[in-house]
Amino acid sequence: MRRIRIFDTTLRDGEQCPGASMNKEEKLTIARQLARLNVDIIEAGFPVASGDDFEGVRLIAKEISGPVIAGLARAKKEDIERAAEAVKVAERSRIHTFIATSEIHMQRKLRMSRELVLEAAVAAVKLARQFTDDVEFSAEDASRSDVDFLCRVIEATIRAGARTINIPDTVGYALPSEFGELISQIMNKVPNAGNAVISVHCHNDLGLAVANSLAAVLSGAGQVECTINGIGERAGNASMEEVVMALKTRGQFFDAETGIATQEIYKTSRLVSTITGMVVQPNKAIVGANAFAHESGIHQDGLLKDKRTYEIMTPESVGIPQHKMVLGKHSGRHAFKNKLTEMGYNLSDEELNKAFERFKRLADQKKEVFEEDIDAIITEEIYRIPEKYVLKYIHVESGSDVTPTATVELEIDGRSIRNVSAGDGPVDATYRIIKLMTQASSHLLSYEVKAITGGTDALGEVTVRLEEGGRTVVGQGADTDIIVASAKAYLNALNKLCYSKSKIKMQNDK
Ligand code: KIV
Ligand code: ZN
Repeated sequence: MRRIRIFDTTLRDGEQCPGASMNKEEKLTIARQLARLNVDIIEAGFPVASGDDFEGVRLIAKEISGPVIAGLARAKKEDIERAAEAVKVAERSRIHTFIATSEIHMQRKLRMSRELVLEAAVAAVKLARQFTDDVEFSAEDASRSDVDFLCRVIEATIRAGARTINIPDTVGYALPSEFGELISQIMNKVPNAGNAVISVHCHNDLGLAVANSLAAVLSGAGQVECTINGIGERAGNASMEEVVMALKTRGQFFDAETGIATQEIYKTSRLVSTITGMVVQPNKAIVGANAFAHESGIHQDGLLKDKRTYEIMTPESVGIPQHKMVLGKHSGRHAFKNKLTEMGYNLSDEELNKAFERFKRLADQKKEVFEEDIDAIITEEIYRIPEKYVLKYIHVESGSDVTPTATVELEIDGRSIRNVSAGDGPVDATYRIIKLMTQASSHLLSYEVKAITGGTDALGEVTVRLEEGGRTVVGQGADTDIIVASAKAYLNALNKLCYSKSKIKMQNDK
C-alpha cells in the first residue's frame, strides 16, 4: 500500500479561522497531541506574520520530536529567513514557501507577470534550500491556474530543489473528478514530477475539501494537507479525521494508508475544539456527538444482531471513550500517575501534585472519574498561562422568588478582594461582579455550556469568547457546578487578554 503523508495545518491555516487564534502555550499543547496522533508534518505557523507567530513556531520546533516542523513563508527573502530562523532548532525542519499562479491572483493581487512569478518561485525555493533540504513549494490558487503554466512552475521549482509540491484549491472551487484529473495531468506532464511528493491542500467552500483530497490520492498525490475538525479560513480546510478514516475504512479501494494513530483522533478533536472554542457540530462525521449514535429501532435491532449491519468503523477505532470509570476517591497518587502515563501525559512532580490535588477534590464530589474528566483537569491545571486573576470564593443565590446575586472573592496580583452584585440570572450576576472587580473593558461575544460526561454530577464545561480592541480570546472552565465553571471560564479569558497585552508591552519595550 502507498503511504500517504498527513500534513497538519491546524496551527497555521486552522488558526486563520475567525476567532480561533491561540497563544503559544496552547499551540504547543496541540502540537504535543498532534505528535501523539503521529502526523507526518506539523505546520506550526507563519513566522513572519507576528512576533507571537514566530515564538509559537520556535517553541514547537524546540519541544516537539517526531513530526517534521514546517514554517510558512511567502516567496520573499524576509519571510524565508524568518521561517528558517523559527524552525532551525527542530529535529527535522521544513520551509514551506508559496506564490500564486492563477491569472486573477498574479494580475490583480501580486501585479506580477507570469515570468516574474516563475522567477520569484525558483528564487524562493533556492533560498530556502540554503537553510534546509526539506523545502515545500505551493502554487497558490493552483486549481484556477493555467495548467501549462502551472506545470512549468512545478518543473522549475523541483529543479530548484523543492521536495514537495503542493497543489492548493485555495478558494474551494474544484470538483472531485476535475481535481483528480489535474493531479493526473501534473504527474504526466511534468517530466521531473517523480522527484517530488505531490501534495494537495483543499478548502471547503463547496463542502468538497475531503472529496477533492481523496480524488487527488486516487490520482497519485502522496501528501494531504488538512486540519483537525476541518477548521480554517472561511468554510475551513479538509478535515483530517475524515480523510484519514476514509483511507483506513476503504484502504483496499485506495490501496493507500496513513501512519495516523487513529485512536487519538477523538481526543485531538476535543482538545482543538476546547482550545479554539470552535464547537464541533453534532452530526460531524467521525467526531460529532451523533457520529456513532443509532436512534432508529431498526438500526438498533440490526446492531444487536451484528454490529457490522450499520457500523462501518467502530467508535473505539477513533478513540471515542466508552465512559470508562478510570479512578475513584480511593485511588492513590501512584494509580493516578499510572493513568496519566497511560493517557500520554508526562508531568513533572510539581505538575503531578497540582493535578492530583484537583483530582482528589473532584473524586470527593463525583463518584466516578472518567478519562474525559482527567483531560479537563490537565487542560485547566497544567496548560494554564500565568494568572493575574484567581478565583478564591464564589457564593450565588438564585431561585424563582429571589433576585439573583453573586458574591465573588478574587485574588488580583496577590491581593484578595470580595464584592457582590445582582444580575438577571446567576451567571449574569457573576459576570457583572467579575467585570467590575477586574475593570474589564472586553465584550462577551459568546457563552456556551456543555456536560463533559453523562449524569447530573458530570463536569460542566463552559467556553466563553471575549473581544477587546480587535483581539479575540477563548476561555474555558470546568467544574461540577456550572456557575463556578462559568466564573473560571470568564477569568481564564480575562487572564489570556492580560497575558497577550503584557507580551505586546514586553515586545514594544525591547
Ligand atoms: O489555501 C492556500 O492556498 C494556502 C497556501 C498558503 C498553501 O493556505
Ligand atoms: Zn489554505
